[in-house]
Amino acid sequence: MTKVFPGGTVAVDDVNLHVDHGEYVVLLGPSGCGKTTTLRMIGGHEFPTQGEILLDGQSLVDLPPHKRPTTTVFQHFALFPHRTTLQNVEFGLKMHGVKKDERREAAMRALDMVGLVPLADRKPNALSGGQQQRVALARVLVTKPKALLLDEPLGDLDRLLQLRMRVELRNLQRQLGLMFIHVTHNQEEALSMADRIVVMNDARIQQVADPLTIATKPATEVVARFMGDNNILRGVVKAHEGDRLIIEGDEQHLRVSVHAPGDGRAIGSPAMISVRAAAVTVEANGSGDGLNSAECEIVFVEFLGDLVKLHLLAGDERMLAKVGAEHYPSLRGREGERIRISWKEDDVQLLDA
Ligand SMILES: Nc1ncnc2c1ncn2[C@@H]1O[C@H](COP(=O)(O)OP(=O)(O)O)[C@@H](O)[C@H]1O
Ligand SMILES: [Mg+2]
Repeated sequence: MTKVFPGGTVAVDDVNLHVDHGEYVVLLGPSGCGKTTTLRMIGGHEFPTQGEILLDGQSLVDLPPHKRPTTTVFQHFALFPHRTTLQNVEFGLKMHGVKKDERREAAMRALDMVGLVPLADRKPNALSGGQQQRVALARVLVTKPKALLLDEPLGDLDRLLQLRMRVELRNLQRQLGLMFIHVTHNQEEALSMADRIVVMNDARIQQVADPLTIATKPATEVVARFMGDNNILRGVVKAHEGDRLIIEGDEQHLRVSVHAPGDGRAIGSPAMISVRAAAVTVEANGSGDGLNSAECEIVFVEFLGDLVKLHLLAGDERMLAKVGAEHYPSLRGREGERIRISWKEDDVQLLDA
């Protein structure tokens, strides 16, 4: 589907996506890339300029939001402060004209799903942040959607609660077996929660894949940059050696080999590769011929608790290495010194421009 706003902004450009029942899909991308607009079109809050939205073969495009088998959870999970947990959950059904007894029963079932029956009579200010989130979820689940649409649902929470809610939300989704489509700009959140990640940029899909693939095999330069902590090198093809390409960097003559069977690009043509910072090691196990290794100056040793990030310069090329915290005592304070880094050919990823 495509969405062009009046005035000409192309918010969503030919986004095609199939989501299975029971699947947890995360739309991930920088601010303004079209995530919310995509979700709003699925939920019925925005009309596509072009395209279709089908659920089980049925077109949703002409249905208003409340007639769709989708429910949207907006950025704020706000609850009514003067209502109890139960009343908060019942509220959505009341709006739909469901009778009192039926309402109560359905609300209690939804509270049971999120484990909050014992707290049914409490008001929000007597609940923890995590419990409030679960009430908000129960309020959504009570309407029995086929798909839950979540726009930055953890965006406002403090970090600890955010980390806990990731697990809770994901577990709940598994238990319910419901389709969740979750929008976030947070890479780590997407990696930790999704069955499949859809990386968007500039109104378009860049890559659709499972979290491990997105993290280790970015398809494009945009994905490699957005996911962060990737070393991206531009160069030219120097040689084909069987299934490998040998690529030499434009600036510093770093030489990198990459497994690329069937890649027919000519000698001298441009190529771009990425290597994850976490795949770079500081042990001296390079082959010694300069392939997949580099001599660097240590610019900054950044301690991250469970990891150390080394900011390096190979000539003018900035590079990153992420190694275990156990290396910190031997790396601390060594800014300005030289070090040899290396990586495995298997960790080199050929990128589309
Ligand atoms: N109602 C609107 N009218 C005009 N432009 C809009 C409207 N809503 C969003 N946009 C524009 O569409 C683009 C995508 O926005 P959005 O879907 O909100 O991105 P995201 O959720 O990824 O941050 C942005 O350029 C934004 O300014
Ligand atoms: Mg948004």
